[in-house]
Amino acid sequence: MHIIPGPSSQVLAGSVARAMQCRLAGTEFFHFPDGEQYLRVPDVGDHAVIIQSTPTDSDFIALLQLIDACDAADQIDVIIPYFGYARQDRRFKQGESVSARALARAITADRVFTINIHNQSVLQHFDAAATDLDAAPAIGAHLASMKTDQSDSPVIIAPDKGAIDLARSVAGYLDVDFDYMEKTRLSGDDVTIKTKKLNVAGKDVVILDDIISTGGTIVKTSHLLNENGADRIFAACIHPVLARNAATRIFSAGIEGIMATDTLDRSVSVISVAQLIADVI
Ligand code: R5P
Repeated sequence: MHIIPGPSSQVLAGSVARAMQCRLAGTEFFHFPDGEQYLRVPDVGDHAVIIQSTPTDSDFIALLQLIDACDAADQIDVIIPYFGYARQDRRFKQGESVSARALARAITADRVFTINIHNQSVLQHFDAAATDLDAAPAIGAHLASMKTDQSDSPVIIAPDKGAIDLARSVAGYLDVDFDYMEKTRLSGDDVTIKTKKLNVAGKDVVILDDIISTGGTIVKTSHLLNENGADRIFAACIHPVLARNAATRIFSAGIEGIMATDTLDRSVSVISVAQLIADVI
């Protein structure tokens, strides 16, 4: 078995290879002067395990190139730790592309694995058997270090209904309370959060979402938590997209820290999903 690292998932692929004690393939890639990408995997092995997140269009092209480069393998498993476009999982307005479906249909493999994909309904669009892995236990294990034996904090807050299952799961792991907010998206980088009374006075709180993109959701949620008397507020997520100045926005709002998994290679990616991947492969 060869672990094939894509350009966007080199650190995670290295961690998976280390966890599985198997070969990490060399991958060559560069851009031609006109912007087109070149990609080569000199030695793909019999069983190729491609690991490539797709936060950008270029990363998606690289994923298609990786799959094509590995066509001599007997088995191709594709791990897409962060699957971009998953939020366009349906047609919100007439005539829109269901982008997640369009991209999923382009993937050819024997097995596909995603991690906490924004909506599990996307899995049905892959031709291959597709499985979504759950990083909630890894986040719970990391947050456990914030909890003393008898304490009822941190309280876990889902900033919208879509994050409730994740918040419930992590809160259950820690044996602490969780609650959720009601969010309405106004634009790509602006949301409103409905006012709500929360039992967080004097407690540490972790706002937990699947994705942090512009940081708008975290910032607006933190305002409400402050109004409710929360003590320290942290932000945690599976996928730290952190578009534009998201990190600055979040820290400027008084958030103590950002914790995320390594589905995307960022400085806040302190929780590894490598073992989760190794276990299913
Ligand atoms: C949307 O439903 C997602 O679960 C996240 O809440 C959203 O992507 C966060 O985006 P932002 O950081 O831009 O507010």
